[in-house]
Amino acid sequence: MKINLLEKLPQSEFAKRRAKLAKNLPNNSLVILSTAPHHIRNNDAEYKYRPDSSFFYLTGFAEPESTLVLQKTANEVSYILFLREKDKLREIWDGRRVGIDGAIRKLGADKAFAIDELDEKIPQLLLGVKHLFARFDTRVSSWLAGAKNLVRGEGVVNEIHNIDSVIHEMRLIKDKPEIERIKTACQISSLAHIQAMKTVRPQQYEYQLEAELNYVFGQYGCVPSYNSIVASGDNANILHYIENDQIMQDGDLVMIDAGAEYQLYAGDISRTFPVNGKFSDVQKQVYNIVLKANIEAINSLKAGVHCKVHHDTALRILTQGLIELGILSGDVDTLIANKAYQPFYMHGTGHWLGLDVHDAGRYFSDETQDGEKQPRLLQAGMVMTVEPGLYFANDNELIPKKYRGIGIRIEDDVLITEHGAVVLTSDVPKTVEEIECLMADSIGNIDQQLAK
Ligand code: GLY
Ligand code: MN
Ligand code: MN
Repeated sequence: MKINLLEKLPQSEFAKRRAKLAKNLPNNSLVILSTAPHHIRNNDAEYKYRPDSSFFYLTGFAEPESTLVLQKTANEVSYILFLREKDKLREIWDGRRVGIDGAIRKLGADKAFAIDELDEKIPQLLLGVKHLFARFDTRVSSWLAGAKNLVRGEGVVNEIHNIDSVIHEMRLIKDKPEIERIKTACQISSLAHIQAMKTVRPQQYEYQLEAELNYVFGQYGCVPSYNSIVASGDNANILHYIENDQIMQDGDLVMIDAGAEYQLYAGDISRTFPVNGKFSDVQKQVYNIVLKANIEAINSLKAGVHCKVHHDTALRILTQGLIELGILSGDVDTLIANKAYQPFYMHGTGHWLGLDVHDAGRYFSDETQDGEKQPRLLQAGMVMTVEPGLYFANDNELIPKKYRGIGIRIEDDVLITEHGAVVLTSDVPKTVEEIECLMADSIGNIDQQLAK
């Protein structure tokens, strides 16, 4: 598989997003948006830094301790960045900094100030502002109080808006460079799943399979876009199982839910396959129900339909399948209305995907029907996951014994277009035949190599 590696996005693309945001704001607005804090792992060791997704979306700037301010008056829009100053000693210890001059030269800021000046400068910038777009917290309150002090409460901000709800709606419709990056994240994620299918062996630890994923991610400068789930046997019935510390048994399935983060964009794939390379008849029976739900759910998506249509589609197929397996009985519509499927399928069928694995954007429109919020309509450029599953836990006595300990999820990532959903993760084998064929080939290869 050829991976489409991409240059870092030029500043002009981030400038376009800032211009688009500014265009939609009323005059006399001020946007304040800070990046994510550092997180301590233990004592003085930090987690590797990752910027706030919305901040990065508008700035392309990945250093910690930074705040973006966009100022829109009747005549102009100014981009102001607060960031760390250059500091020779700190840069020797912690790494390079863009610095104040660099913010103007390299990041396209109109003005830049040291992050330490934020508390002093923001109250001044708030003077004359009618609409403040921010994440409202105690710091913003103190800036507002500071601004009111400066002018004895006259003419300071009469409307406060949540900046996230504005940026999240922008992020929901992906622009071209974002779609390219998500596609690459999906390609790398696919390669990692293929590597796991090729290398899995009975009696390995789940974490050894996780290491295969991480190896592929690392080859492309990626990290996991969330904690990888490598769940063999009954562990797959724990939806967010991340211990990954059990031995994988011959005869069990293993469910992997893992994705690469490429240039901060997430892939999110689940595949379930036999540890020994061959599905049993019972496993195949359950697998093919989930597979059908996955395929039909994907086929139900396109611009103009509502965003829960794939869930409705999947629920119908899964419920019908539960009847065929003898786990439920009765009429499909009544079983769906009564949520009879819930002990075996307890999550939604997908979510938006982008800079965050559970990406930004509302799922409901403003319209209500019979007092209930309605799902919004899909638009071209949205990216989402489709991830039906069936979970038959060992301790679920509602289930015939032969099915217990099987947990299956099949998850793909799709781009919504006018004509349908384009599957971005189609390189990973998905049918029983495709999976068994790939695994048979690789088992043969590895056995030959071991025999030498
Ligand atoms: N990996 C988390 C999810 O599939 O939603
Ligand atoms: Mn997932
Ligand atoms: Mn997902």
